[in-house]
Amino acid sequence: MRVEKILPRTAIVNVELTHEWTVTGAKLRDPALHRSFGPPISEPKALMANFRSSASEIEERHRAQTLAAVLALREKYRVPVLGRVPVWTAIEMLAQCIDPTDLRLFGASQQLHVLQILDAMENEGAASEEFVLAALLHDLGKVLLLAGEAPENVVCFNEPIGTYAPGIGLDRCVLQWNHDEFAYSRLKDHLPDGVAWLVRYHSIALPKCEPYLDARDRAYVERYFRPFARYDHGTKSPYHVPRRRIQDYRSLIERTFPSPIVI
Ligand SMILES: [Fe+2]
Ligand SMILES: [Fe+2]
Repeated sequence: MRVEKILPRTAIVNVELTHEWTVTGAKLRDPALHRSFGPPISEPKALMANFRSSASEIEERHRAQTLAAVLALREKYRVPVLGRVPVWTAIEMLAQCIDPTDLRLFGASQQLHVLQILDAMENEGAASEEFVLAALLHDLGKVLLLAGEAPENVVCFNEPIGTYAPGIGLDRCVLQWNHDEFAYSRLKDHLPDGVAWLVRYHSIALPKCEPYLDARDRAYVERYFRPFARYDHGTKSPYHVPRRRIQDYRSLIERTFPSPIVI
């Protein structure tokens, strides 16, 4: 009988901890001491003012988006950004995404935003599978904030660039470009038509787009846009802690996207 020599797999790692603490007896509330550390963040009033002014600068740059800029962004994002990944992974990334123009979320994450929508939908008995998918996926394109894209190309509301024939249909208009179009380009083949449409157009400035809606757009505005907008915009708060947990929706996402997709 052959006896194999088994080498021990354990390794010994020596870790030396060398913390040295100096006790000064100073009180933490001592203003002089506080100054010497340098306060890590500003006072709430200054924070709010900075957030507001930076948000309006981003919105101004978004409004200035030209047709050439939109075409360049379409071209830029023909290639993968995250690679082939499970959609669930991208949803988890929303926990790291902050919309720097959202004065109602005021720094709360996009994942919290999604859960606040789901909470309200479930409380009102409106959590159909289509609406739950819309809640989970509509802001998925905001992962571009983590990929180095300028915020003015990721967030804000979209208006048509140029003028078009009345009733031409939104698909034949060039709108400003943001997370809507990016998410639509990645998800459209996996979603019911109305949900894909909602992902693409959920942040349009409706009064500016209304003249261009065709029959399909008008039907989807009533069936998806208006009811969803109520949850999307009406549930945002940096204070409301939702009861639902994102994991509760993992099986729905894995059923809708059984394989990783290119994002
Ligand atoms: Fe959005
Ligand atoms: Fe949203």
